[in-house]
Amino acid sequence: MTSRYHQVYAQWHADPEGFWARAAQALEWIAPPRRIFDSTAGVYGRWFPDASCNACFNAVDRHVRDGRGEQVAIIHDSPIQGLTREITYGELLDQVRMLAAVLVAHGVGKGDRVVIYMPMIPEALIAMLACARIGAIHSVVFGGFAAHELATRIDDAGPKMILTASCGLESNRVVAYKPLLDHALALAKARPRAVLVFQRDQLEASLVPGRDHDWAESVADAKYRNKAPGCAEMRATDPLYILYTSGTTGIPKGVVRDTGGYLVALQWTMSHLYNVAPGEVFWTASDIGWVVGHSYIVYGPLLIGATTVVYEGKPVGTPDAGAFWRVCADHKVVTLFTAPTALRAIRKEDPDAALFQKYDVSSLRALFLAGERADANTVDWAGAKFGLPVIDHWWQTETGWCIAGNPLGLGLLPVKPGSPTVPMPGYRLEVVDDAGHPVPRGKMGSLVIALPLPPGCLPTLWRDDERMRESYLAEFPGYYKTSDAGMIDADGYVFILGRTDDIINCAGHRLSTGGMEEVLASHPDVAECAVIGIKDAIKGEAPCGFLVLKSGVARDDATIEAEAVRLIRDQIGPVASFKLAITVDRLPKTRSGKILRGTMKKIADRDPYAMPATIEDPAILDDIAGVLRDRGV
Ligand code: COA
Ligand code: AMP
Repeated sequence: MTSRYHQVYAQWHADPEGFWARAAQALEWIAPPRRIFDSTAGVYGRWFPDASCNACFNAVDRHVRDGRGEQVAIIHDSPIQGLTREITYGELLDQVRMLAAVLVAHGVGKGDRVVIYMPMIPEALIAMLACARIGAIHSVVFGGFAAHELATRIDDAGPKMILTASCGLESNRVVAYKPLLDHALALAKARPRAVLVFQRDQLEASLVPGRDHDWAESVADAKYRNKAPGCAEMRATDPLYILYTSGTTGIPKGVVRDTGGYLVALQWTMSHLYNVAPGEVFWTASDIGWVVGHSYIVYGPLLIGATTVVYEGKPVGTPDAGAFWRVCADHKVVTLFTAPTALRAIRKEDPDAALFQKYDVSSLRALFLAGERADANTVDWAGAKFGLPVIDHWWQTETGWCIAGNPLGLGLLPVKPGSPTVPMPGYRLEVVDDAGHPVPRGKMGSLVIALPLPPGCLPTLWRDDERMRESYLAEFPGYYKTSDAGMIDADGYVFILGRTDDIINCAGHRLSTGGMEEVLASHPDVAECAVIGIKDAIKGEAPCGFLVLKSGVARDDATIEAEAVRLIRDQIGPVASFKLAITVDRLPKTRSGKILRGTMKKIADRDPYAMPATIEDPAILDDIAGVLRDRGV
């Protein structure tokens, strides 16, 4: 089939507002948009400024009304517990209504924030949808973050209520969530009115009288009172959620997602990009704590009346490297979306894909990858072993959906190894040099997106228009700075080479090395430090911290290094995968005192590097190479 991509992209390019006006017709609006884009509103303009709708209505209610009440909406597959649970659209609607009633009973209403700190269980999705129903703004915090990170997010969002569960299940342990939340609340200045706790069989959490409430009892009470709220009329420009993501400092950025534009963009992608139809099973093997989870575990599949899989397991070890294929076979998954890390982990344990052959995965039509660079080697291996299109696509928390991809629904374009293919309609990409001038095709530079960003992308940062301008719009006027370096080749294919800031991608998780440095610097024996991301065969990149100790510190290095590892785990969380701290005498610096992190990374990765002209003392680079060798890096 010839791809319709070029034709559709040209249609968008010729008439962006007409394009999105047509896409908007797939939603059910309370007040349909008469105006499509207002360039004078907000930081760079706002989509659908005069329209109103409700996200929960579009994701749940309308499907029940239209006869999908008996269809399964959510499949919870938890290999760690050995159970599978199905929830129909009808049941989902009931549960969302009852939880929404609980929120209202605690005084939560339109525009109030609700923090959700939960594992991969259906109740987490129900919580998000209940917020959307009443117009409260949810802010989901990934379960792998520790108390300090959670506290920072609680303080920035200022939630009226927090929803949590007693525990999460990792393959090697039960993670008690409630003590982490209690600790976060002790650290935070914000004082939520109430905490709702979903008690799981594996661990019962203790409740603080007056503040904490039992989820099941509260819902039972709401059922008894039988007074559930309807779907609130929300302006398309009202925030649906805030999702915090790593910035270049330890203070995360509160990415705001508006309601109408987001729903329009997601609905468009479900058919045109992912080629999934209502009633089919779509599985995103990620976590609701990440943007990929928000868009394609929750809102995207539910918007079109598909079935979504909530998987509480890993690609390997729960119980083996056939786990993904078992889930695909059991639930007749048509599209699987995961991070390249997951494939690398599977490949390591099952290089011949023997476990893939064990299951009937004939329902599976494509495998989508995102979250980090998909190395050509892994993509080729997967393509050859699975006999499926393996489609890399590039996006960011900020954009909420794919910037560049290969649109299965429009007909696949030929794949170029190492490229996530082409910009989606809505995105005009340029590669620019440091002065903001476009560079010729095939040359590397900073990837920028011409304003306005399409519907679905962040309109601003939570209560911080200025940080939005400074972080993304100021450096290249007229463009959004992606902070990814890359190039566009003569055929218009995009290549992503890596971040231009201090963000690293470890196992598909976005982390700030600057944030880690702030934590390490708080250790009483550390004078200065540098954290870099170094190549990791499975996780893509893993952080490595170099510590210079204060003079006169007599304690042994190994003890301090272990404390540093512990400190990051306690303050940022296990998700940081910070396992390697190395004490060094000095850090390599320029004569003006800038730490040469880029050169250190090249040494660690065994990549060729040029001696920086401004280096203060070249001998330090040999010291760094030596300590890395000693540690087996
Ligand atoms: N709650 C609590 N702890 C969590 C957690 C959660 N939701 N998620 C991860 N962690 C912990 C892990 O248990 C691990 O702890 P450990 O150091 O005690 O082993 C640590 O955080 C690091 O997690 P991770 O980097 O994910 O490593 P892992 O060994 O648990 O799993 C992979 C490795 C490759 C299997 C896993 O990272 C993976 O499937 N990644 C790709 C999919 C994905 O979700 N990508 C996100 C964006 S699409
Ligand atoms: P996140 O906000 O967690 O989605 O991370 C966004 C960052 O992940 C991007 O800025 C990229 O650096 C990286 N990324 C995401 N998808 C890809 C991809 N397909 N190829 C290369 N890098 C990617």
